[in-house]
Amino acid sequence: MSGNNYSMESLVVHGATPFDPVTGAISMPIYQSSAFRHPGLGESTGFDYSRVVNPTRSELEKTLALLEHGKYGLAFASGMGAISAIIKLYKPGDHLIVSEDLYGGTYRLFNDYYKPYGYSFSWIDTSDFGLIEKNLRPETKALFIETPSNPMMKVTDIRRCADLIHKQGGQLIVDNTFLSPWFQNPLDLGADMALHSGTKYLAGHNDTLSGFIVHSDDKTEETLRNIQKSEGATLAPFDSWLMLRGIKTLGLRMEKHEQNAAEIAQWLRGHEKVEKVFYTGFTDHPQYGLSRSQTRGNGGMISFYLKDAGAVPALLRNLKLVLFAESLGGVESLMTFPLAQTHQAIPEAMRLSAGVNDRLMRLSVGIENAKDIIADIDAALKES
Ligand SMILES: Cc1ncc(COP(=O)(O)O)c(C=O)c1O
Repeated sequence: MSGNNYSMESLVVHGATPFDPVTGAISMPIYQSSAFRHPGLGESTGFDYSRVVNPTRSELEKTLALLEHGKYGLAFASGMGAISAIIKLYKPGDHLIVSEDLYGGTYRLFNDYYKPYGYSFSWIDTSDFGLIEKNLRPETKALFIETPSNPMMKVTDIRRCADLIHKQGGQLIVDNTFLSPWFQNPLDLGADMALHSGTKYLAGHNDTLSGFIVHSDDKTEETLRNIQKSEGATLAPFDSWLMLRGIKTLGLRMEKHEQNAAEIAQWLRGHEKVEKVFYTGFTDHPQYGLSRSQTRGNGGMISFYLKDAGAVPALLRNLKLVLFAESLGGVESLMTFPLAQTHQAIPEAMRLSAGVNDRLMRLSVGIENAKDIIADIDAALKES
């Protein structure tokens, strides 16, 4: 569907290639083959070995590029596989500014496995633009942000970050997992790379791991492709097909996630056992205007502080419809306790400074009936 001005509703359904040109199959075939026969010496069908290129994965990569408005898409075995490839674009001595309020696994990868080799990182609240300016150094090569942030739902100004880092020849990398391309396109706002844990909204069914990078730079593409094939953390053909199938309903799902989240956030705000709710759809969210200016929606993620940390175990035990689990973005509503799950790799002082304490809950709102989700959380809170 490239080259046409189809809307996102149509693009998610049809992807880059609406049917298999050889057989006419409407569902992209799963090319479950590790190797491809060469017609002759020095000749290739364009497919030689599946770690390097696979037709099902290629279709998915092209589809992601279309949805994120980039020239190139790369698919990895997980979001962390994609982040591992990105960090290899930099070298010892380089400095990166990173959102302090982000997925704990990203922190662990950078801090535990790259810092010892001479990379340096400033972990800061990137929703505070002045703080980014203050931390910028001549050797700062990239800003790596999550917006909205995970789990505190802070919003970082993508346009201003892009302008700032471009002045010194660096790159802006945006982890766009929380909103998906349905609600936010970082490349349109000046970012150099959009990154996804495709495991979340893009897959949408809590059944597949995957990761993506979308960008438009020819030189970076050459390097990233080499990293991808050298490391081998590429997405398998069957998982690529599951992703293609999940993406077909991205629009419908995102709209329902958002509609449910708006209702649930408002209800949570009035609950006697809840101290504070973090949700970008509230008109009194500190960056509401900024959020409206760079997104097309608020997504399905909500975080909240309980008044009493002692209520956490009973709440998690008594949920029935909402599942206590460590992920987000699927059709099933999931409740996460970031302190013990997604953010446990982050040192206590940094975690607390970001706001991740022993009363913080994160809710990935699914596409069930909103009233049922509310009744389930309400009943579990009563037991807590
Ligand atoms: C915002 C964000 N980015 C990246 C990742 C890593 O993705 P994956 O679990 O697919 O490796 C996660 C995982 O939870 C995440 O929430």
